[in-house]
Amino acid sequence: MLNINPTKTNSWKKLLNHFNNIKNKNIIDFFKEDINRFNKFSFLLNKNILIDFSKNILNNKTINLFIELLNEINFNNYLSLMLNGEILNITENKFVLNFLLRDINNYFIKNKNIKSHLLKEKKIIDNNLNKVELFTNNILKGKWLGFNKKKIINIVNIGIGGSDLGPRMIIKALNLYKNSNINMFFVSNIDIDDIYNVLINISPENTIFIVCSKSFSTQETILNFNIAKKWVLDYFDNNIFALNNHFIIITSNYIKAKEFILNHNNIFVVSDWVGGRFSFCSAFGLSISLYIGFKNFKKLLLGAHFIDKHFFFSKLNMNIPILLAIINIWYNNFFQFKNELVLVYNEKLSFLPLYLQQLFMESNGKNIDRNGNIIKDYNTSSIIWGGLGTCCQHSFFQLLHQGTNIIPCDFIIECCFKNNIYNSYYKLVSNLISQSQCLAFGDNILLNVNSSKDKNLNYKFNKFFGNRPNNVFLIKKINPYNLGTLIALYEYKMFVQGIIWNICSFDQLGVELGKRVSNLIYPLIKKNNLNFNKEIKKNKIFLDSSTLNLIKVFKKFNDKR
Ligand code: F6P
Repeated sequence: MLNINPTKTNSWKKLLNHFNNIKNKNIIDFFKEDINRFNKFSFLLNKNILIDFSKNILNNKTINLFIELLNEINFNNYLSLMLNGEILNITENKFVLNFLLRDINNYFIKNKNIKSHLLKEKKIIDNNLNKVELFTNNILKGKWLGFNKKKIINIVNIGIGGSDLGPRMIIKALNLYKNSNINMFFVSNIDIDDIYNVLINISPENTIFIVCSKSFSTQETILNFNIAKKWVLDYFDNNIFALNNHFIIITSNYIKAKEFILNHNNIFVVSDWVGGRFSFCSAFGLSISLYIGFKNFKKLLLGAHFIDKHFFFSKLNMNIPILLAIINIWYNNFFQFKNELVLVYNEKLSFLPLYLQQLFMESNGKNIDRNGNIIKDYNTSSIIWGGLGTCCQHSFFQLLHQGTNIIPCDFIIECCFKNNIYNSYYKLVSNLISQSQCLAFGDNILLNVNSSKDKNLNYKFNKFFGNRPNNVFLIKKINPYNLGTLIALYEYKMFVQGIIWNICSFDQLGVELGKRVSNLIYPLIKKNNLNFNKEIKKNKIFLDSSTLNLIKVFKKFNDKR
C-alpha cells in the first residue's frame, strides 16, 4: 500500500490547476458547448439503472486527471489486495471480503491460486446462507412454531446501526415482495418507548425476535433483548424453554451470545471481518430473507454481485462507483462543498438516506490517515443527509435553490408504477426531473422570462443562478436485484473515497469514546444522594461544570415528577 497524502501527489496539483480554470464555469455552458453531453456523461447499468451525471461542473479532463491520481496512488493494487484477501482493515487487522458474501455462484473463488483462507471464509458464508434458507423456509412453511404451537407471523429485528439500518431500509424498499403473512418490526433505540410501541401490538405466542449484534455487547441491543425476554417469559409462566422458540441471535461473538440463550443452535455466527454497515449480505440479513423469502434475498445478493464484478473489472473511467467517488471528491475537496444530499422520490426508499449516512459517515468520517497522521490539509467524508421528495421540496429546497451553501444532490426514483391515480406518478416524476433541471440551470430555463407577464415574477429577489450540481438515478424497478445493485454502487463509492483520502474506511473507532463515557456517567445518573465533590475526586473522568450541572438539574427535574 502506498498510503500517501493525496494532496502531495502531482495529479492533485494538476487537479488544482484544472479547478482554477473550470471553477467559474456554469453547468449550462457545458451543455451549450456539447449537445451530446448527456450521452457522454451518463451510464445505463445492466439495462436497469440509468445514472445521469451530466449536470456537474466537470468535463473529460476532470475525470482523466482523477484517473491519473488513482494510478499515481496505485489504486489497482488496493483492488488486488482486496481480491486476494489481504488485511485491508488495518486498524482492526481484518480482511474486507464483502464481495465474497454475495458470491453465490463462486465466481471469485474459481481461480486455482485462490488463497486457502478465502475458501475457508466462503465455506462459513455458504453454511450461514444454508442456515438462513432453512430457517426462512421453516418459519414460512410453519415448521418452526411458537412454544404453544402457534404459527410465527411477527418478526422483530432487535439491533442498532449496521444491525438495523440495512434490513430496515431494504424491507421498506421491497414491501411489494413481502410474504403475505409476515409482519415486520424493528427495535433499536434504548428509549423503551421504541420496544413498547412494538410489543403493545403483538403477542409472544406468534412472534420471533431476531437479535442482531456483531459484538453482542451493544448497550441498546442487550437492553431490548432483555426486555423482550422478560415479556416472553411472563407470557409462558417463566418457562425458560419457551425462549428457544422465540429468539434467534446473529452475532460474531459466539462466546458472549451463548450466555444469553439456552439452545446454541439458535445462534448464527458471522465472521468478525464482516463490518456492521456491510452486514445485510450475511446472516445479518435473516430478517430480510424472512420478509421477502430466501429466493428474493438471493436476488438481492446477486444484484450486489453484479456491481462487485463491474467494480473489479471495468476500466477506471467507465467504473461507476469510481466516477461517483470522483464527483464527490471534486466538490468536497476542491469546491469545498461539504454536504451531500440523497433525495429519494419513492416512499419505499425513505430509509435509504439514513442507511447511506451510516455507510459514508461511519466509514469515512475520519481525521487520522492510514499512517496514523492527523489529516489537516483536506476534507474527508461529506456530511450526508437527505429526504423524501416531494416533501422536502416544501422544507429545505429553498436553501438548495437560493442558499449560499451549494449542496450536490443525488436524485433517485423508480420508473415503474402500480398506481397512477390522478396521474400522481407522472406528477412525482415531473417534480424530480424539474428539480434536477432547476438546480443545474436556474432561471435560464424560463426562455420567456422577459415577457411582460414574467417581469413581475422576475423581481430582484426572484433570481435563480443555478449551477447546483446533481446526479439523477432512474431505476427501472425497485426489485431485489436492482436494490442490491444500487447499494453496492454506493458501497464501492465509499471504498474509493477512503483509498483516495488515505483513511481506513472499515473501522468506527470514533463511536467508542461516547460509549465509554456514557458508562461512566451512568452510575452518577443512577445514584441517590450524590456527593459531587467526592465523585469528582474519585472519578476517572474529567467532570466539567457543564456536565456536573446537567446531572444535577436532571436529578432535580426527575425528583419533582
Ligand atoms: O456504535 C456503532 C456501531 O458499532 C456500528 O458500527 C454497528 O453497526 C452498531 O454499533 C451495532 O453494533 P453491534 O452489531 O455490535 O451491536
